[in-house]
Amino acid sequence: MTTRPWTTDRSARSAFVLPRGLRGRLAARVMLRMNRQDEVARLLDVQPGERVLEIGYGPGGLIRRLSGSAAGRVCGVDPSPEMREMARAHAANADLRLGTAEDTGFGDAEFDCAVTVNTVGLWPCLERGLDELRRVVRPGGRVVIAWHGGRRPPRLTRRFRLPDDQLRRIEDGLRARFGNVVRRELSDVTAFAAGGRQGLRARPP
Ligand SMILES: C[S@@+](CC[C@H](N)C(=O)[O-])C[C@H]1O[C@@H](n2cnc3c(N)ncnc32)[C@H](O)[C@@H]1O
Repeated sequence: MTTRPWTTDRSARSAFVLPRGLRGRLAARVMLRMNRQDEVARLLDVQPGERVLEIGYGPGGLIRRLSGSAAGRVCGVDPSPEMREMARAHAANADLRLGTAEDTGFGDAEFDCAVTVNTVGLWPCLERGLDELRRVVRPGGRVVIAWHGGRRPPRLTRRFRLPDDQLRRIEDGLRARFGNVVRRELSDVTAFAAGGRQGLRARPP
C-alpha cells in the first residue's frame, strides 16, 4: 500500500508511513522505543473528564499515557489494522478505530482536544486533515500537532524534519481554524499547540 504525502512529490511505502505486516510490526517497536510521548502529553495537558482524540496512534505509546490520565474518553484513528491491534494491547478501554486524519468517522464537536505525533507530514492533504480536526474538536477546544524536529532530534529521524515553509503552512493552517497557535521545540519534536479558551493555555513542558 502506498500514499502520497503533501510534504513530498513522491509516493511513500515505508513501514513507518503505513505500517503493515511483519515490517510494520518491527517499525512499530522502533516507534515505541524512540517516540517518547511524555512532553507532548504534558503540552496537551488533559483535564479531568475531557474527551481526547489521537490521530495516527501507531503502536499506542501516547494512547497508553492518555488512558492513564484523567481523560473521560480516549479515542483514536489510524489506517493500519496492525497498529490498532498493538495499541489495543496497551489500552483496552480506549475507543480505537480505523480511519485517517482526513476522515476520522467521528461526529461534529465530539472532542475537547485532539493530538497527533509524527503523522502530519504523512497526510495526503494537510488542509483536509486540518478541516477534519476543526470539525471534530468543539469550539474553544485545542489541538496539538507534533512532528520530527525539536531541540535534539535523534540522528535516525533528523532527515524527516520539515522545511520552514511547510512548518509555516501547518502553523498558518492551525491559526486560520483555531485562533492562537504557539510553537514549541520539545526534545525530539516540533510541536504546535492551537486553540483553547485562553489560546496560550498550553504551557512549556
Ligand atoms: C511514524 S508513525 C507514528 C505513530 C505514533 N503517533 C507515534 O508517535 O509513535 C505514523 C502513523 O501514522 C499513521 N498514518 C499514516 N497515514 C495517516 C493518515 N492519513 N491519517 C492518520 N494516520 C496516518 C500510520 O498508520 C502510523 O501508525
